Amino acid sequence: MINNIPKHIAIIMDGNGRWAQAKGKKRTSGHKVGVERAREAVETAVELGVESLTLFAFSSENWNRPKEEVSYLMELFIIALNREVKTLNKHNVKLKFLGDTFAFNQKLQDSIKKAESLTAENSQLRLNIAANYGGRWDIVNAVNGLLADSNHVDKINEDLLASKLSTADLPDLDLLIRTGGETRISNFLIWQAAYAELYFCDTLWPDFDSKELQKAVDEFTRRQRRFGLTGEQVKEPS
Ligand code: IPE
Ligand code: IPE
Ligand code: MG
Repeated sequence: MINNIPKHIAIIMDGNGRWAQAKGKKRTSGHKVGVERAREAVETAVELGVESLTLFAFSSENWNRPKEEVSYLMELFIIALNREVKTLNKHNVKLKFLGDTFAFNQKLQDSIKKAESLTAENSQLRLNIAANYGGRWDIVNAVNGLLADSNHVDKINEDLLASKLSTADLPDLDLLIRTGGETRISNFLIWQAAYAELYFCDTLWPDFDSKELQKAVDEFTRRQRRFGLTGEQVKEPS
């Protein structure tokens, strides 16, 4: 069976620091170029007709980086968000942040709120930015949500838990891409990736252009997703 275009793509945008260092520049300059590639990925996703794109921008663990790098990233998020939100809105993109955004400074929280509410009714593409996101946080947060609003429920099931995850209203994750050569999940969408197709490439994020994304999608369309069945069971009837 040939897969169609993935409905939901998630990307671990990795390799900014190494990209910059290889050019003798500061790691932060890699993050700056990384924002441009994120914009390009959004444009490509819209062109391809993808329903949902989730970008990993900052992990729960990234707080432990040098203070200057963390502050640079916070500033970059504010600048990029404020600069891009109008264009995203014009292109009918609905923006949502996944993660514990309350930990961010007030200025960034305000920009996030403004961007989410401005684009709330849009329907062309769901653009989800995972920021201060961790897969374990997501699951614990979902369990706490269940505990808080259902004191009569003494048993949970997969659907109930999934309904409390940050991705609850998004299509199932089809394709998870990681750039930058590492073959690990780094606490990204650990629940949601259960049956996603994984795609790892060596290209560092600042070099991951539209063609690279198209290549990943092309590979996805050629893979056979079996979901536990045999190859014969999932083959299209001839
Ligand atoms: C990913 O690039 C961006 C963030 C984690 C914010 P890195 O900054 O991890 O780049 P490398 O992996 O050190 O090259
Ligand atoms: C994952 O990349 C987080 C983001 C891309 C935002 P990292 O560079 O933080 O992951 P590790 O440390 O190599 O696992
Ligand atoms: Mg990295």
